[in-house]
Parts: sequence; C-alpha cells; structure tokens
Amino acid sequence: MAVAKKMLQFMEVGSWIRKMFEEGARLKQIHGLENVFDFSLGNPNVPPPPAVKNKILEVAGRDDPGLHGYMPNAGLLETREAIAATWNTEFGLALNAQHVITTCGAAGGLNIILKALLDPGDELLAPAPYFVEYRFYADNHGGTFKSVPTRPDFTLDLEALEAGIGPQTKVVLINSPNNPTGQIYSEESLRELADLLTRKSSHFGRTIYLVSDEPYRKLVYDGTRVPCIFTVYPDSIITTSYSKDLSLAGERIGFVAVNPAAAEGGGIINAMTLANRILGFVNAPGLMQRVVAELQGACVDVSIYRRKRDRLVQGLQAAGYELTVPAGAFYLFPRSPLADDVRFVRLLQEENVLVVPGSGFGGPGHFRIAYCVDDVTIEGALPGFGRALERARKIA
Ligand SMILES: Cc1ncc(COP(=O)(O)O)c(C=O)c1O
Repeated sequence: MAVAKKMLQFMEVGSWIRKMFEEGARLKQIHGLENVFDFSLGNPNVPPPPAVKNKILEVAGRDDPGLHGYMPNAGLLETREAIAATWNTEFGLALNAQHVITTCGAAGGLNIILKALLDPGDELLAPAPYFVEYRFYADNHGGTFKSVPTRPDFTLDLEALEAGIGPQTKVVLINSPNNPTGQIYSEESLRELADLLTRKSSHFGRTIYLVSDEPYRKLVYDGTRVPCIFTVYPDSIITTSYSKDLSLAGERIGFVAVNPAAAEGGGIINAMTLANRILGFVNAPGLMQRVVAELQGACVDVSIYRRKRDRLVQGLQAAGYELTVPAGAFYLFPRSPLADDVRFVRLLQEENVLVVPGSGFGGPGHFRIAYCVDDVTIEGALPGFGRALERARKIA
C-alpha cells in the first residue's frame, strides 16, 4: 500500500467534503451553473479593494534586485513593523517587529504555532463547532485534538471548557468571528476564559496557551468589535490573514503575533521562525508581504456581506428556519429541521442547493451556509430552502 495508513484514514474522514464537491459538479453539469445554488465554500466573492491591484502592479514594477529573492524566515522587517504599528494603535499594545512573523495565510500560521508548542500527546482544545482543519493541524504536530461544546447560541461555555481542560492541555484554540457559526466572543467571556486558563495553568503546573485564529476579524457587522486577546491573557498568540478581509485567499498571506507579555515569548518566536522554514513554507510570499505592508488600513466593502447576510436571514426566517443571527464572518449556521443534518443536506441538494452538514464541524443538527456568493444565488436558492423545509417537516 503506497499511501500511509494515517492518510488513508484522513482521506476517509475528509471524504464527505469531496463527495459534496462531486455532487455539486454533477448537479451543475445536469442543470447548468445558474440553476445550482452553491453555498458550500468559504471563498470570498467580493473583489479586493482597488488599492490592492494598484499596489500589486506598483510592487511588481519595482526595480529592486532582491524583489524575488529569499528573505529572513520571519518575513520582511518593513511588513512586520507595519503590522506591529497597526495593532499597537488599535489596541494600545507594545508589539514590535520581533513579535510578528509573516506566514502563508492563517493556515500556515496555525501550523507554525502548533509545531512550536506541541509535544507528542499534548492536547489542543477547541470549542465546537470548529474549523475542520484543526483536527489535521493538531495531528501534523503530534498533538491530539479535543473539542468541547458551546452554548446553544454558540457563545463560549466556560463550564464545558473547565471540564475539558486536563493535564495534557497545552493549547486552547478559539476562532472569533467563527467559522462555521459567525459568532463573536465577547470581551467578558474572554476575560472569564483567561481567568480559567490562569487557574488551570497553575493547577497543572504548566502554561496553557491561548491561540486565537482570526481571519474574519474585520468582517463584522452592526458596529460589533472583536476584542483583542492580548489585553486579557499574557500567554497568547494570534494568527490571522488577508484571505478574507482583502479577498486574497489564493495569495497565501497572513501573520502570527505573539503577546509581548508572554513569559516564554522569545523562545516561541524563534521556534515558529524555524518552523516556517522546516515545514517548507520558508517564508510568506514576498510580493504579497510588500503589498500588505502598505495596505494595513484597507478592507473589502463589508456592507456587501452584511446585505447578503440580512437578505438570507430574512428569507430563511420567513420560511421558518431557526438560526442565531451572527455579527461576523460570512457564514450562517441554522438548525437543521431534521436531527440528521446529513439527510437534510441531501434534501437541499435535491433542490439544487449546496450547503455543508454541521456534523463535519462538530456541530450536528445544523448546517453551514457560506453566503460569500452572488445575490442571484441567494435569491435563486430561497424557494428551494423553503421547499426542503416543508419536505423535512413531513418526514420529521
Ligand atoms: C477559521 C479559519 N481558520 C483558518 C483558515 C485558513 O485561512 P487562510 O486561507 O488565511 O490560510 C480559514 C479559511 O477558511 C478559516 O475559516
């Protein structure tokens, strides 16, 4: 057998995603692209701000002999300085370039963080529902993935977290605004989490790190602000990217920042810098580092996503769906009218509406709608959402 046993297992676990893709492709072939309403992928559909294109052209035209060369594994100094300055202004922090490493997206960031922190058997604990890849990333670095439930509105459940933390817990990984729920954790709940981690670290005699995965930080609505974990817990690390807020997902550009107050921050930064190299990323893409260095304040027009959210929420609620209206990201996570969410997702497929079952995210009994799609897709899908709900009610 050529393929490693573990990869065979992972491919099996990940196969429902592939099946959805295949089913989507099949439906599109039969019914035509415009008659299949695909909400299955979190691929931004709002164009990058015009400043991005202009900056890419300007940077590409620079007469700099080092433009396409290797660079320090932590990334370009000018980019890291720009990021540190931006976060200091926004959150009153004391970051400098040494606390920042540029990465191949938030995914690259998570992998260097976990490579730096996890020993075999260490646990990574995440509130569910969670981004599917966390499981694989923990395993990449010898760790074990564990999850605990959130409350029915997907806010943090401190009691569940307390029960879930044990002597093996090395990392608690949160994601706010959340994929798949869109939920944003309040400052108060983060303070409670910080108190819990302080208590548990002292109880078990080793530091538990709080890692915050925040690629949707800027995609927020209704005046909501995402609190910064650096101001609530010292042993903390943030990873984020420009994938969603500048619609640059394919360009693989993001960064990791370590809290200047982290007791062993220097060692962790050195370990992550080496991890960037030996995981084969080497460094984040050079052109993109130069581009984002000068576009720190830029963001896609979030009012476009808010409008899509509002239309979909209104249409789904009018049809009779139950959902928590999220204030961030571009996902809805409604309750499935059938306890078996996979079965309900199949009913939606029969209406040519493609969504993802919540079970895949550790959130059974729900389904995820990625509304980073054209308005015509939303309008075209609503009748199908309505019919599928009616059919589910007859079955249930
Ligand atoms: C919660 C979460 N974390 C990380 C990532 C990976 O982001 P990137 O494309 O910046 O690597 C995604 C992408 O969808 C995500 O939803």
